[in-house]
Amino acid sequence: MRQISLHVNVDHVATLRNARGSRYPDPIHAAVLCELAGADGITVHLREDRRHIRDRDLELMRASVGTLLNLEMAATDEMVEIALRIRPDVVTLVPEKREERTTEGGLDVVGQAETLAPRIAALSAGGIEVSLFIDPEAAQVETSATLGATRVELHTGDYANASRLLAAEELDRLARAGHVAHQHGLHLAAGHGLTSRNVRALVATLPDLVELNIGHALMSDALFVGMEQAVRRFRSAIDQGAA
Ligand code: PXP
Repeated sequence: MRQISLHVNVDHVATLRNARGSRYPDPIHAAVLCELAGADGITVHLREDRRHIRDRDLELMRASVGTLLNLEMAATDEMVEIALRIRPDVVTLVPEKREERTTEGGLDVVGQAETLAPRIAALSAGGIEVSLFIDPEAAQVETSATLGATRVELHTGDYANASRLLAAEELDRLARAGHVAHQHGLHLAAGHGLTSRNVRALVATLPDLVELNIGHALMSDALFVGMEQAVRRFRSAIDQGAA
């Protein structure tokens, strides 16, 4: 059976902690439980406004995560400097707007090629694998490969939000972009808005998919069934899609 890595995004645990300015719940504890339950990696987004994950979290995460640490961040000088100091295994460059509730779309790699190129080069030279979070469009995938990224993460938000009728069209778009990524030898990831219900069809449709990044829906399940059980439910849904 195909092996698809499940990377759990623990940002929402930090959101809950920050809501009361308390020490708990600690995203580090969440990461440990996710790993114990079989997660293949931990994803965190250090936003410029530090609204959830903070610098202290990232430092402790680097010291404690034993699987793979994926740092999502904006392509700014400040963030590149932090990444080169902390050395996550992977950096995923994402677009970031202060007023947004969550990442709203993919990075416009085509339009921002000039500003992205030196940052991708600096991270790669520092031994960090670079992934670009992009909309499922051939041009975005092709430019990602040209810029030296070794990975892309396809934005699945439109698929997750699509009506039943339009979901097939969105899956088609993702499959076409996934194929282009495979042709360019890119490690293919996907994420955003995925649930234990909609993830199966995505996995079944993308034969070259090797990684998923899942946060909000998994943490929401964890509120009711516990962190470890929530990870296992997603693991099982992903495996069903892959079978
Ligand atoms: N991948 C990327 C690049 C993201 O920015 C996010 C949201 O932080 C996710 C995956 C996870 O999305 P969700 O929380 O909707 O599962």
